[in-house]
Amino acid sequence: MSKWQELANQYFMNTVVRVPVTLVRGEGARVWDEDGKEYLDFVGGWAVNSLGHCHPAVAEAVTEQARTLIQTSNQFYTIPQIRLAELLAQNSCLHKVFFCNSGAEANEGAVKLARRYGKLKLNGAYEVVTTLNSFHGRTLAMTAATGQPKSQEPYLPLPTGFINVEYNNIEAIKAATTNQTCAVMLEPLQGEGGVNLPSDSYLRAVRDWCDQKGILLILDEIQTGIGRLGTLFAYEQYGIEPDIMTLAKGLASGVPLGAILAKEKVSVFIPGDHGSTFGGNPLACAAGYATVKFIIDYDIAGNAKRVGQYLLKELADLKHKFQFITDVRGCGLLVALEFNSDIAQSALMACFDRGLLVNRVKPNALRFMPPLIIGKKEVDEALYILEKVLSSMATKA
Ligand SMILES: Cc1ncc(COP(=O)(O)O)c(C=O)c1O
Repeated sequence: MSKWQELANQYFMNTVVRVPVTLVRGEGARVWDEDGKEYLDFVGGWAVNSLGHCHPAVAEAVTEQARTLIQTSNQFYTIPQIRLAELLAQNSCLHKVFFCNSGAEANEGAVKLARRYGKLKLNGAYEVVTTLNSFHGRTLAMTAATGQPKSQEPYLPLPTGFINVEYNNIEAIKAATTNQTCAVMLEPLQGEGGVNLPSDSYLRAVRDWCDQKGILLILDEIQTGIGRLGTLFAYEQYGIEPDIMTLAKGLASGVPLGAILAKEKVSVFIPGDHGSTFGGNPLACAAGYATVKFIIDYDIAGNAKRVGQYLLKELADLKHKFQFITDVRGCGLLVALEFNSDIAQSALMACFDRGLLVNRVKPNALRFMPPLIIGKKEVDEALYILEKVLSSMATKA
């Protein structure tokens, strides 16, 4: 253990199992540790570094903005925030934007907006239906929204008004809807829950149900948005439009920034209803604008689609080779590899030893979420290491 890791153990609250490496530098899809060892990064800051590490467009925008204006409060207008709001609205089906600092905060705000709408337009309806195995963040309300009883149990009692039902089951949503329901909140594809894809008809059926009942559809695109699934937003692939959408993670390629987007008719906040000290500050918004503009101008989502298809195909080939791989699934550059037993942590550590960083999304599944700018060459490099690791695990088994 290095001296930095000893200090971390002394001073950090113990909330996460860390890989024993201290990263000091990053460029593109690569990072380096304090001893100069290089790693290919297929974790990507947990699906955050959309343009890779320290992309020149982002680094230059942040540097320039840091020399100009960093923070003013939302008592005043600032140009980077306005430009980013315009860019997001012009490139999505939504009209109004509120900026915050993280995914959990974006979802909290989205639920507040839905409750405000419920109070004004739905006779005070306030309940939100969410799905089991979802992930919406770590605040108390988002712990209640997140349908994972194991994460909820230590914090009971949780805020009320969230009903967690089975994912990919429209009948479960219908059964949970009452005259107290103001919204359904879903990830289009569940990320943290294990990269669980929606069935072909699910999102369309949910949209139709929300329309029929006059309730709102909130899409949590914090992990799936900003090109990750091969389109700028995931909803585009399912032929539906949300009433509210939340973004964070990849929005500013590593600089903390979250956003709530809403249709005009749903934007019912009035001054004083909601706010954030740092949300939408010029520094974060300059990074966000540089990121989103680059992704649109250079069709980075198209790259994520093509390279993601290649990664999926090659992983499917590995599945044929190694019997202990039971599933390969994903969309764009959000992909999981599932095993028939809980060997994901040992696979992760073996990849790490060979210079590849991956994520263990479940005890029996690895997740790959590299920067959206990677090419086939980097995928081949990662697959080469992965195959070596799987071969050695097969020999041991
Ligand atoms: C779909 C989804 N929603 C919300 C969050 C929470 O975001 P944050 O960690 O920025 O609060 C995450 C984080 O993994 C996520 O994947």
